[in-house]
This record gives sequence, structure tokens and C-alpha cells, in this order.
Amino acid sequence: MKRYDIALIGGDGTGPEVAREAVKVLEAAARRFGLKLTFVPFDFGGDRYLRTGEVLPDGAVDELRKFPAILLGAIGHPDVKPGILEKGILLRLRFELEQYINLRPVRLYDARFCPLKGKTPADVDFVVVRENNEGLYTGAGGFLFKGTPHEVAVQESVNTRRGVERCLRFAFEFTRRRNRRKKLTLCGKTNVLTYAWDLWERTFHAIGATDYPDIERDYAHVDATTMWFVKNPEWFDVVVTDNMFGDIITDLGAMVQGGMGIAAGGNLNPEGTSMFEPIGGSAPKYTGKNVINPLAAICAGQMLLDFLGEKPAAEAIERAVISVVREKIADLAAGKMGYSTTQVGDLVASLVA
Ligand code: IPM
Ligand code: MN
Repeated sequence: MKRYDIALIGGDGTGPEVAREAVKVLEAAARRFGLKLTFVPFDFGGDRYLRTGEVLPDGAVDELRKFPAILLGAIGHPDVKPGILEKGILLRLRFELEQYINLRPVRLYDARFCPLKGKTPADVDFVVVRENNEGLYTGAGGFLFKGTPHEVAVQESVNTRRGVERCLRFAFEFTRRRNRRKKLTLCGKTNVLTYAWDLWERTFHAIGATDYPDIERDYAHVDATTMWFVKNPEWFDVVVTDNMFGDIITDLGAMVQGGMGIAAGGNLNPEGTSMFEPIGGSAPKYTGKNVINPLAAICAGQMLLDFLGEKPAAEAIERAVISVVREKIADLAAGKMGYSTTQVGDLVASLVA
């Protein structure tokens, strides 16, 4: 029997509620496919911070390093100033665990939930590979003359050849493994950001030509990408981009696939500890009401199993989610599903079992 220890960070707001449903479904899949999953809880988040003044305790990162995967509910607390928990937990884990890829599938499971007129599941099925350790997110920069009329704020985008290349290689390999249209779109801004995107573009074509001749190379500026996501989502197979652009276009992607109730992502370190999360926030106003949609967290669990190499179990979860979305759910938004959070978890788990 295959065994996996999985770190579980429920986090803030509705995070623990949705994570609980994801665990329920993962346990059902484990029973059916003969896996032994052990979930080890960590209480990181806003409540712990407000209680102890500590965002991540000493040694937490090294503790988490022992796990192949982390399942995360959500980070973000209404009583904590924005930025503290995001930087202190989410971004710190992404950086220190070198989760250099943020993988965000954009897949529409039912045409009813697409805000775009006339688009069906066949039209909305692509994946964004977001660089997750560099760019504007490194915290490079600073203030000069802070608080004076001459104040200067500089926020630098850091792009290293190593970081760019490993992200692009992952994207090429992923496109090949996905084996669909074999088309990789680089989403950038070569017409204005002529240092960063020059490096990206040169590396893209250099490694693409020599090592991935079977993959079609495509390029779109980020502004145009947002336009095509809405107008022609069917043009995309895999999109690769930097951290900031990836942050922005994946929220658009999430809306196109039906909203935050269904959008999941993986922070991947293919050689270390990866972390899977629903990409919507902690939705504090719904906390404890049993109305939030747990499908995004369940899909994060599905990505986790897929990443661990447990393909049949992951596929069973995805099939169950598709059938619940198509046949049961009235609406993917919180409070409008026609079922409670726990009922949705039960529905998916019963189809997986
Ligand atoms: C995301 C989120 C985070 C990000 C925030 C919460 C720091 O928006 O995962 O996309 O900007 O990466
Ligand atoms: Mn975001």
C-alpha cells in the first residue's frame, strides 16, 4: 500500500471548512484506490498570529519540508493588516520551499457556468504555468525619502536566467505530457518591458528550438492575452508567464471557468514539497455558515494526487466533480449551490467511493 503524509493547513476564514471537504474526498479516493493518506494539521493563519504574534513559528518551514505535499485552505484574516499573512505564510512557503511553478488549470466543466456567451467545455480547457519565485514578488526595491514630498518607491522585477529557464522547461515538458494541441503560448510584454521579456523570449525560443521542436511556440502580449481569454479561449493550450502577469490572468481564467468556487492551483517544486490550494481567498464573511463552495479545494486535492503520481485516483475525483457540477449544483457561488458545503463534499466523496 502506498503511503503519503500530507501537511494540512486549513488557514483562515472558510479555509478550514473547504479543506475538510477536500480531505473527505481524498480519503474516499484513498480507500477506493488502496492508498494510505495521513493528514498532519498545522494551525498557521490569522488566528494563531493574533494569539501569538508569530506568523510562522521557527522551524515550520523545515518541518513542512519533510512532506511531499501540503494542502492549504486559505490565508487572509479580516483583523490582520493585508500583506502580513500573505507575505509571511503563503509567499514565504512558495519561496522557501522553492515552489517555482504555480500551475493553474482553466477548465470549464459545464457551459451553464461560463460567463462568456456561446462557450462550452470544449472551448475553455487550458493551463496557465505561472512562474512563482521571481518577478515583482521577490520584494526587491525600496523607498527613498519616505513620507516626504520627494518620496520614491521602486519595486523591481527580478528575472534570472535560471528561474526563467526552469519555468519554461517545466512548461514545455508539461505541454508535451499533456499531449493536446502541443502549443505553448508565452504571455509577456516584449514591446515595453524590454529587459525582462527579452530574457524570457530569448530563452523561450532557444530552448524551444533545440529541445522541444515538437511544441508549437506562440507569443501574446499580456494585455492581448486578457482579450483572447475572453474572446477566443479555445486558442490556448498551455500559457507560460511571469509571477505578476500570472497572478492577474489566472483570476480572469478562474472567472472564465466558472468562478473562484471551482478554481484550484498547485505551487510546485517537482523536486521537493508542493502545495495545493483553492485560488479564491478566505471569504471571511461566509465563515462557519456551511455555504462556501468546496469544489475548488476538492480540485486542489485532485491536483495533489495527480502530482504524487496517483493518476487513477486523481481522475476519479475529477470525474466525480464533473458529474456533481453538471448534475447537481445550481450555481458555483457561495450560498447558491443548492447544497451546503458539507453536502457538496459528501456528493463528490460518494461518487469517488
Ligand atoms: C494568488 C494570490 C496571492 C498572490 C496573494 C494572496 C499573495 O492572489 O495566489 O494568486 O498574489 O499570488
Ligand atoms: Mn491572485
